[in-house]
Amino acid sequence: MKAVVYARYGPPEVLRLTDVDTPVPGDGQVLVKVHAVSVNASDWEVLRGKPLYARIGGPFRPRHHILGSDIAGRVASAGRNATLFRPGDDVFADIFSHMGGFAEYVCVPQTALAPMPAGLTYEQAAALPQAGAIAVQGIRDKGQVQPGQKVLINGGGGGSGMYAVQLAKLDGAEVTGVDNAEKLEFMRSLGADHVIDYAREDFTANGCGYDLILDLAAYRPAFAYRRSLRPGGRYLYVGGSVATLLQVLLIGPLIGRAERKRIRLLAVRLGVQHLDPLVELSQAGKITTVIDRRVPLSEVPAALRYLGEGHAKGKVVVTAG
Ligand SMILES: NC(=O)c1ccc[n+]([C@@H]2O[C@H](COP(=O)([O-])OP(=O)(O)OC[C@H]3O[C@@H](n4cnc5c(N)ncnc54)[C@H](OP(=O)(O)O)[C@@H]3O)[C@@H](O)[C@H]2O)c1
Repeated sequence: MKAVVYARYGPPEVLRLTDVDTPVPGDGQVLVKVHAVSVNASDWEVLRGKPLYARIGGPFRPRHHILGSDIAGRVASAGRNATLFRPGDDVFADIFSHMGGFAEYVCVPQTALAPMPAGLTYEQAAALPQAGAIAVQGIRDKGQVQPGQKVLINGGGGGSGMYAVQLAKLDGAEVTGVDNAEKLEFMRSLGADHVIDYAREDFTANGCGYDLILDLAAYRPAFAYRRSLRPGGRYLYVGGSVATLLQVLLIGPLIGRAERKRIRLLAVRLGVQHLDPLVELSQAGKITTVIDRRVPLSEVPAALRYLGEGHAKGKVVVTAG
């Protein structure tokens, strides 16, 4: 089969489209023909080995040689003791823990798979898993957004931001989206009430207070986030610099206590089993998946660069054929 492989951390040029053996499903696994796989910021990070947390499990060389974690496709065959799905079933999954989606076929533990939601295309289903899990847990489970609250989504024009902005609006919040200048109109189109270009304005220094800051691109000191929270507010770190992550982990729980401000890491539980609310809202037409680009497997390196350099508005999806 064709796959996009790499053997060392680096820029997209280290990726090669090549022929490799089609994997054989092991015990409890299913072989899936990949029809669509979305590109995530985590692919970009694990490609380059930056930030350092992207090297967990592979400090010097990549642990997995084929990236791609959010897949949708059709079951081709099932291994021993894999009884939940049959050849021909349409499925989707988040396979972040073992990757392998930038390929024509991938073996997936049957427990990671779910039937494709009725009414969604392969592309829409592949766009949902990681970005959707971050949005649902960031806005609802951990963010606990209430009507009338002020919510700021830093990195609101990317994959997770696309769902987070829409969910926060549906839940009745007044939403501010922060991203680069190219994405301001996009965030408005998703429903953001206010937008900020991060190159022109530091949202932690503009005097506004928020009940929730969902931070998909965290590069500021934890004290700056504390300043931007209203009393009782929450700050959730999703991705960004290791320096900010360490501050959030080490001093976050202490520095906001007096004003009941919570500064925490959002440790996202990945897996399509966490997506039910978003799948239902998508099926009802209340949440839109915006697919910025569709590309073939041969264009994965360019697609990763496009996303990594901050041009993608919504999701980039790699499609078969
Ligand atoms: N915590 C967890 O358990 C967990 C689990 C899975 C993934 N993640 C992380 O989640 C993060 C976000 O994922 P995603 O899919 O939403 O990424 P994405 O699609 O790349 O979106 C991130 C957005 O942030 C923008 N951005 C970059 N620097 C910024 C800044 N200083 N201020 C404001 N916006 C900025 C980016 O645009 P520009 O590049 O143009 O600036 C981009 O639009 C990734 O870092 C990923 O590793 C965390």
